[in-house]
Amino acid sequence: MKYFIQIYGCQMNYSDAERVSGVLEQFGCERTSEESEADLVVFVACAVRESAVSRLYGNGKKFKRYRLDNPKFKAVLTGCVVKKDRERLKKIFDVIIDIKNINELPEKLGLGKIAEEKEFDYFQVKPAIENPFTAYVPIMTGCNNFCSYCIVPYTRGREYSRPTQDVLDEIARLVQKGYKEIILLGQNVNSYRPDEQTDFPALLIKINEIKGDFWIRFLTSHPKDMSKKLIEAVKESPKGTNHIHLALQSGSNEILEKMNRKYTREHFLELVDTIRENIQDVMLTTDIIVGFPGETEGQFQETAELMQQAKFDIAYINKYSPRSGTISFEMSDDVSGEEKKIREEKLNDILRDTALENNQRYVGRVVEVLIEKENEKYYFGKTRSFKDIKIRKNETDKSMVGAFAKVKVIKVTPWALEGILPDE
Ligand code: SAH
Ligand code: SF4
Ligand code: F3S
Repeated sequence: MKYFIQIYGCQMNYSDAERVSGVLEQFGCERTSEESEADLVVFVACAVRESAVSRLYGNGKKFKRYRLDNPKFKAVLTGCVVKKDRERLKKIFDVIIDIKNINELPEKLGLGKIAEEKEFDYFQVKPAIENPFTAYVPIMTGCNNFCSYCIVPYTRGREYSRPTQDVLDEIARLVQKGYKEIILLGQNVNSYRPDEQTDFPALLIKINEIKGDFWIRFLTSHPKDMSKKLIEAVKESPKGTNHIHLALQSGSNEILEKMNRKYTREHFLELVDTIRENIQDVMLTTDIIVGFPGETEGQFQETAELMQQAKFDIAYINKYSPRSGTISFEMSDDVSGEEKKIREEKLNDILRDTALENNQRYVGRVVEVLIEKENEKYYFGKTRSFKDIKIRKNETDKSMVGAFAKVKVIKVTPWALEGILPDE
């Protein structure tokens, strides 16, 4: 049976999709990149914005056609879906399944049953990973923060941290298989607390003790929980990568309060200073929402100013989208679509400037790179700080894909670097 996976949303969903593949491949299913030739289509959905949910509704007709052509055809929905949408989407999808119960999928599809020795734990599913060098490892799921705009606490439920030994075993296995970059995932990694003694910095120290040559990255950090201890742990972490994703959302204290974010712009800027002082060449990325209910031009300007000060390398700028069931859904969505777009563009302009300024510092320097792909002329990879880089190839015939290399940066744009192998 051929299956196709459509992934929306954040890295959590990419990681979920790897586990869905892991389950299906136990039953001989084969992944295809052509939706139209699949007997089984699995959508891993995101509910953060209304538009992502509307897209799901748009598939009804197409699936009907597939069912006519192929009586075996089935459509499955998993990932982040809220209850209300679940009811209505039943008409379009044959199976809607919570990712935590993904072990039940083969049975629901009539493929058979997974033999289980103990109670099912989604984290125990061996993922089928597409990228041969980078692997996502979920360490916690769920969220207890209830930011007023956000649907995640309603789709993912409360926080749950995966036992440390499980995380360490999975990483050791991946490193042995040759993975070079391990990305630890959680809605708020700083809340990792599987037991009284262990917190995220402690986990980071233990992961560093695993033998092998690999980089560790993690997402996402919430500013209210970003501790000095964690910054120290990253600084001291030999396998660590110098990348921090610290979600700002807004630079206005009034809006931050309405968002229920529990920190101030001053605290955020202090954190940025501490991170920059401690972590050399840090790549700082963030998420921002423009047009939150009641956001005035002045409050927006505060976000713009903060962006100029923080000098982010990447910022994912989102136009506010009201989500039924969240607290801010009750507030009037009073910033027009047009104004949201203008604010989004203004922030993107600032970002382009700060990202370019940050990258210009790399010119002439030698950086560590993980090489991931190649074509005739170039290698493509990323730096230890997570910047995309392309590297002019030498006339050697030995491929360097999958290896770490030292690369001299010769040219930059806001979003990428270009380099040469130093002996060229
Ligand atoms: N746990 C992460 C965020 C996960 S959701 C954190 O706290 O940073 C990913 C991003 O989607 C958020 O950072 C936010 O910028 C965006 N987002 C969430 N809800 C949104 C909404 N209702 N409208 C627009 N963007 C939203
Ligand atoms: Fe959503 Fe806030 Fe939780 Fe992030 S911390 S997932 S924004 S509720
Ligand atoms: Fe979307 Fe779920 Fe991630 S709602 S942003 S896919 S946690």
